Parts: sequence; C-alpha cells; structure tokens
Amino acid sequence: MPDLAGIIQQEIAGNGPITFARFMEQALYHPELGYYTSPGAKIGRAGDFYTAPTVNPLFGAMLARRIDQMWVASGRPEQWVVAEYGPGTGILARDIATALQNNHPDLYDVLTYYLIEISSALKKVQQEILWNSPADNDKFCWIDRLAEIGPGHIANGCVLANELVDAFPVHLVRQEGNDLQELYVGLCGDDDDCNSSSVFSLVAGPLSTPELAEYFSMQNIRLENGQQAEVNLQARQWLAEVAGHLKHGYLITIDYGATSRELYAAHRFNGTLRCFYKHRLVDNPLVNVGGQDITAHVNFSTLITWGKQLGLQDIELATQPQFLLNMGILDILQKQPDYTSNPEFNKITSAIKQLVLPGGMGDIFKVLVQQCSFSS
Ligand SMILES: C[S@@+](CC[C@H](N)C(=O)[O-])C[C@H]1O[C@@H](n2cnc3c(N)ncnc32)[C@H](O)[C@@H]1O
Repeated sequence: MPDLAGIIQQEIAGNGPITFARFMEQALYHPELGYYTSPGAKIGRAGDFYTAPTVNPLFGAMLARRIDQMWVASGRPEQWVVAEYGPGTGILARDIATALQNNHPDLYDVLTYYLIEISSALKKVQQEILWNSPADNDKFCWIDRLAEIGPGHIANGCVLANELVDAFPVHLVRQEGNDLQELYVGLCGDDDDCNSSSVFSLVAGPLSTPELAEYFSMQNIRLENGQQAEVNLQARQWLAEVAGHLKHGYLITIDYGATSRELYAAHRFNGTLRCFYKHRLVDNPLVNVGGQDITAHVNFSTLITWGKQLGLQDIELATQPQFLLNMGILDILQKQPDYTSNPEFNKITSAIKQLVLPGGMGDIFKVLVQQCSFSS
C-alpha cells in the first residue's frame, strides 16, 4: 500500500487540486493511515499534544458537577444520556463517570454514557481504559451517530465535545483585492515556489462552494488584502446532527477559539492553522502527512449563530478558567487534608494552575453551553 502522501498525490494527479478541507480530512481521518485513525499515541505525554483531561481528573469532575446541575434543572429525569463526541483516549469519560459515581450517585444510577468516535484505533484505547475504570462497564456504549440512540432520540441528556471542533477539516481562504479566493492543495511543479520538504503546495482558485462567501457575509467580516483564514463548515453539519437528535437537553462544546471579530482580526493575518508533532508546533500542514495533528481555532460566534438557526439557545459562554472557578474547582484544594505534607495537594495545585491561570491552558479555551427543548 502506498503511504498517505502517495495516496493524496494520486488523487490530485487524477482529479486536480483538492480543497484544503479534503486534504485535512485525508491527513487526519483516512480510514487506515490518517493521523487519528492509525495506531499509536496522539494525546498526552507519549503523544503530540496535551488536552485538559490529560492534566488531571479534576477537569472531568467539574464537568460532572455541571452535568448534575443540568439533570437537576431538567427535573431529575429517570434516564439521562451523556453523549461524548471525539472522546480521544476515553479519560474524560472515565473521569466524568467516576465523579458521578462518587459524588452524584442519583444521576449515576440513571446514566448511560455514549461515545462517538471516528477512529477505530482510538475506540480500542477507550475500551481498554473504560473497561478497567471504577465505573460499571455497562454504563458505556459506542455508537457511530446520535441517531443510533433510538427512535425517540435523546429524550433527556447532554452532548459533550472537548477539542472536537478544532479537529474538523477546514477550508482555507485568502482575500485578494475584492475577491475571496480558496487555497487548494496541488502538486509541486517546476515553476512554483514549492517548499522542498513537501510534494504538495497551496494554489489559489475560485471558491469551491458559495457557503464560504456566505459565511463571511453572514458575520459581516471582510478580511484584509492578502489575509488568510480558515472556515470550518463541518461544524454546522455537526450542530445540525446534534440539534436533530436532542429533544430536551444541552450541548457543551469546549475548545480553543474566539469570536469571529477576534478570529479574523488583522493581527491574525496568517490565520490560526497549526500542527503538532511530539509537543512541538509545526507551521507547515503539507509535511509529515498523517504523522502530525492539524488544527484550527474554533469560531464560537458561528457555533452560536448556527445553533440558534437550528434551535439551540446559547445559555453560557465562559472562558475555561471562569467555567472551572464557577464549578468550584478551588473547593477541592480546601478539602485536601494536611496540605503541608500531602503530595496530592501539590499535584492538584499545579493542575489547577495549568487549567486556570493565564499562560497555561486556560487562556484561549472557551466553554459554550447551548440548550434545546423541542416539544414532542
Ligand atoms: C483533539 S482530539 C480530542 C480528544 C479528547 N476529547 C480529549 O480532549 O483528549 C479529537 C478527537 O475527535 C475525534 N473526532 C474527530 N472528528 C470526529 C467525528 N466527526 N466524529 C467523532 N469523533 C471525531 C478524533 O478521532 C479524536 O478522538
């Protein structure tokens, strides 16, 4: 079998340049050779990047508190679904379920926790972790889409995604005078200024879909001449799937990102596309295809606008530090016994610093809570 770069090269040689979104989809999710779909550690110390759940189980415990508040606000229904998209290694599911079991047993009793993961390799990792976790195995179910939960959809529950949306394939665009152009991935020819470390190069062309121009006009945004930006159209499809299957419930989206004004401001002239390889930032997405993570900041304004169009009302948008402080993350420190000689105290203190203080993970992460209530 050729390598992933070879497979993409063949596709381009046969059909011409492909959108960056198609390139990113192959690079991350090609069924066997994609970054997320191939075996090997991606998340955590042995992988390429950390996420908040890898810092400390406290992150999951705070989400468990918020989910319990939602269950109580919904009148303590007799069945409650948590459906987590893109669960990665499964440790957030483990930490939420364990915190519910220990601290919110009434909700734990009525809980079913669904995991929706695109990568079969990661599903295996999740099963290994969750089947060996303190929570009961039969609490966890793996599904490919929300529709599988049943004909009644999710009657009551909460859909959750931590660092999912930043991993969706994005289109790349660039403003050229009065024209918005799309950047495609083509093959290096003899005449262009190709980066010698890649067989691919970016080539400008007309927009592949009118949705890209509509995206900017909907937000009243015009990029600076020469400015490059990413557009995440898959986020809308995902919101539509969630809104289409959640009857009474909540969606919690946690990710790094900003409002559209901040995201497309002139100081972000080159956009927010970034790659990670062994905890190093790489600025070229066209190299190490399938071996490095590719990601872009999330536009929280469009999640809110599209959500409203689909029947999801935004009820909370907080920075991650605000969210964790509101959930009482500091109480955990006060409850630690004999903190002068307690190693757990130091561990928790440094985790809280990383999650909450400027300079750590807290700076750019946001938590968006949306709610829907469709009458049956
Ligand atoms: C950046 S990782 C985050 C993992 C985990 N949530 C965490 O915080 O550690 C992105 C995850 O989303 C998954 N993913 C990406 N697109 C998906 C999709 N359309 N449906 C389900 N999972 C998806 C990836 O395979 C991976 O598990």
